[in-house]
Parts: sequence; C-alpha cells; structure tokens
Amino acid sequence: MLTVGGLNAWYGKSQVVNNVAFEVGRGKTLGLLGRNGVGKTTTIRALMGLVDRAGRITLNGRQLDNLPVYKIARSGLAYVPQGRHLFPHLTVEENLRLAWHGAKFDNDVLERGIGHFPPLSELLNRLAGNLSGGEQQMVAIGRALLNQPTAILMDEPTEGLSPLFQEKVGAVIENIKASNIAIVLVEQNLNLALNTCDEVCFIERGSVVHKCSAADAKSPALLETFLGVGGSLRK
Ligand SMILES: Nc1ncnc2c1ncn2[C@@H]1O[C@H](COP(=O)(O)OP(=O)(O)OP(=O)(O)O)[C@@H](O)[C@H]1O
Ligand SMILES: [Mg+2]
Repeated sequence: MLTVGGLNAWYGKSQVVNNVAFEVGRGKTLGLLGRNGVGKTTTIRALMGLVDRAGRITLNGRQLDNLPVYKIARSGLAYVPQGRHLFPHLTVEENLRLAWHGAKFDNDVLERGIGHFPPLSELLNRLAGNLSGGEQQMVAIGRALLNQPTAILMDEPTEGLSPLFQEKVGAVIENIKASNIAIVLVEQNLNLALNTCDEVCFIERGSVVHKCSAADAKSPALLETFLGVGGSLRK
C-alpha cells in the first residue's frame, strides 16, 4: 500500500503541488488526471524525492519521505518517467543492467525486464536511441520491473505512441496490476486510463480537486469540468 498525505512540492519559491493525498493498494491502479501543467509529473517526481517537497509518504508502512533518493528507489517504489529517459547511446541490455540493484544480473532478472514484451529479447544489443518509441517505452517499463517493485509510478506511458502500442501498454499495465503491484498512472489516453484505473484523482493547479471511482469518472459532465473533454470517451 502506497499512502501519500499532505504532499507539497516546489520549484524554487513557486509551489506546484498543494496538499495532495491519496492511497493505492497492491493490485490497484490510481489515475492522476488533469490538464497540461497542473503538476502531475511534479507530484510523481515529489514521491521519488526528485524535487523539493514535504509531506508524508509510506510504502507498506515504511516511511519514505525521510529517505535519500537512492534509498527510495531501492524501497520497492519504481518509476517510469515521462519521456522514458533511457540512455540512448547504451544498448537495451546495458540500460537494464544499469537499473538493476542487485549483485548478479542473471537470466531471471533479464526475464523480468523483457518478459512483459518478448520482442525485446531480439533487441538486447540495439542502442536504445535507435528503437521505436513504443519499444523504448517497453524498455522503460521493463527497467522499472527488474527490481520486483511493490508500487510503480507511471508518467504518461503511452505519450507519442501509435494506437497499437498504446493498446500494448494497456495490456502490460493490466499484467502489472495482476501481479499485485500498486500503480499510480498519469495518462492522457482517457479510454485507457478509465478502463485501467480503479480510482482517479482530478488535479487542478497542483491540488486534488475531485476523487472518485474510475467508473464514476466516465461521466461526461465530470470530464468536461476537470479536463474540458466531456463526451470524448469511446463508447
Ligand atoms: N524544472 C522546473 N522548474 C520550474 N518550473 C517547472 C519545472 N518543471 C515544471 N515546472 C512547472 O510546474 C508546473 C507543473 O508542471 P508538471 O510538469 O508537473 O505538469 P504536468 O501536469 O505533468 O503537465 P503535462 O501534462 O504537460 O505533462 C508547470 O507550471 C510547469 O511549468
Ligand atoms: Mg507531465
């Protein structure tokens, strides 16, 4: 269980996240939805300790907000950043090896990184920067799965991907859920988000302004109010 309470975050003197609170259990997905620039990425980065922040963050009862970033990354909280952030001049396998926290990088570890998307096994020696956007996203997700996290923060995993790859990402997220991992998902593909999430938080100007079940969030009136896209859901 990932719990977040009273989370605030700043860039310099400018406060971007205000008093955000939520919790997400293992095998559940919580969506953070909101217009561009409302602070979704900053919220995620604050959880990882990558921006100035204050608040209470616990994972399975362990307090994380007092830990340095490298210990947060080793606590069972994994991060799939917006824009993927692979090392483009390293191979796929090198990207995975760099992310591994353990001593011996064996086939079991490798399998955790590529097993969710088998075509990666043919691409291990390719430079990550030469992969398609969809393949790169699969490496970024695999990298997050290597260390057997109990919670994953995923920031716009379908951004810039073809509809086919967006569906593949959706299927991978379902598999991650089924393996009893808690997921916090920032996602602009509303169909994917609302079909994958259990609960959603709508965010405006860094604050959670509405929290409800994903089923209730399918209301066109709600989507119009918080995202300006009422009626855009696929029936
Ligand atoms: N490194 C930074 N320094 C200063 N301000 C920043 C920085 N990164 C983001 N911001 C500002 O913080 C606010 C929130 O940005 P953030 O990236 O968290 O939004 P977002 O909801 O993820 O947006 P998007 O949907 O476009 O990804 C924006 O006003 C943005 O301009
Ligand atoms: Mg963002």
